[in-house]
Amino acid sequence: MKPSATSSKPTAPLRGTVRIPGDKSMSHRALIFGALAEGTTQITGLLEGEDILHTADAMRRFGAKIKRIDMGHWQVIGRGADGWRSPRKPVDFGNAGTGARLVMGAAAGFNIKVKYSGDDSLSSRPMGRVLNPLREMGAEFETDDDKLPLRQTKGGELSPIHYTPPHASAQVKSAVLLAGLSTDGITEVHEPRLTRDHTENMLVAFGAKLTRKTKDKGQVVTLHGPVKLKATTVKIPGDPSSAAFLIAAALMVPGSDILIENVMMNDGRSGLFEVLNEMGAYLRADNYRRSGGETIADIHVRHSKLRGVVVMSDRVPSMVDEYPILAVVASIAQGQTVMQGLGELRVKESDRLAGTLALLTKNGVEAHVDGDTLMVTGIGKGGSIIGGAKIKTHHDHRMAMSALILGLASEKPVKIDDASMIATSFPEFFNLMRDIGAPMNVQSMGK
Ligand code: S3P
Repeated sequence: MKPSATSSKPTAPLRGTVRIPGDKSMSHRALIFGALAEGTTQITGLLEGEDILHTADAMRRFGAKIKRIDMGHWQVIGRGADGWRSPRKPVDFGNAGTGARLVMGAAAGFNIKVKYSGDDSLSSRPMGRVLNPLREMGAEFETDDDKLPLRQTKGGELSPIHYTPPHASAQVKSAVLLAGLSTDGITEVHEPRLTRDHTENMLVAFGAKLTRKTKDKGQVVTLHGPVKLKATTVKIPGDPSSAAFLIAAALMVPGSDILIENVMMNDGRSGLFEVLNEMGAYLRADNYRRSGGETIADIHVRHSKLRGVVVMSDRVPSMVDEYPILAVVASIAQGQTVMQGLGELRVKESDRLAGTLALLTKNGVEAHVDGDTLMVTGIGKGGSIIGGAKIKTHHDHRMAMSALILGLASEKPVKIDDASMIATSFPEFFNLMRDIGAPMNVQSMGK
């Protein structure tokens, strides 16, 4: 059964210890790199969300053999020297932008034809940002408006390029590097601002010759092609973007005190933690350890008195998915929180800038958008959030979870029209919320 209309209501203090499921970004990559590599890759901690299941299915269509051994433990027998084959049916990515964009890059390296499709949300998102550099490398695509559905009509025999993505985007960087694997020569991506670096780390773990040089606030990544990836073992830590919702809940509900175990602490993903610290949050990361090439820690969070801050645009790459939930947290702070440079939020699973504004204002929180800047005036000490609205989530998992967290700290329950998308990234969300003391009123509909 899938959750449909769902609501959350004011709750008693949240308590307990939870373990966050595997990171979505790394889970996509582990499956894709495993499917390219020679040999058998073992993955543990894989996120079994719908986005990832679509990528697993896509890899099967390109000829990789994928087997689920146990919860989170998956095995991928890659195509290696045989290369990916043309899928017989369209490759459907559902709601998953990362899966679609990374796979388009990887598949462009092969002389195959591919049809790609996705759900309504994914079909409205811009794909030109990956198709353009891939075209520069020699791939060809048939598309009306650089959106899904589209077809790769020519791949393989690509030329390496030196590319500076026009937007700070780990997906675009990754697509270019994956296409570069098959080329003869040096593919270079210049990032003016550093974005998450899981592709770089994992390519090295799979045996690629890749170097990184810091340049100003960004980096230059250099890949020496052609590269034959070799299977390896990938251990995936907990997703900091999922942990963000539990952290927010504990910060907002008076008396809360929770421990979140196994959270990845990658610099390219830790923007939210830094901002919350600046706002005065009780947020302690300890038990730092290394696992699967990443640093992980356990995070202890307590309800906190927060103050509004200015979040400059250079933070966006390290917390691009966390703005809706940050805005929700900002609604209890003392004073105004100003979040700058949020243009990219308009092209996520939904227009998250408009969605966040609607979520807050409909529930009685004072918020404004001016250009790409979002301003939220928190209620501060003694104030309260009215709540009571029913929110349209527009097929967006992070908007759905943000709305439900707001409801925990509002006077009246906050409802959402559809909770089913939460399973794309965080299928354990409702169970973990229940475990810390915040059961939600989930209405189910048949599959
Ligand atoms: C991701 C990169 C980000 C992020 C997405 C996951 C990735 O997108 O929003 O959820 O795994 O590379 P952009 O690269 O488009 O900013």
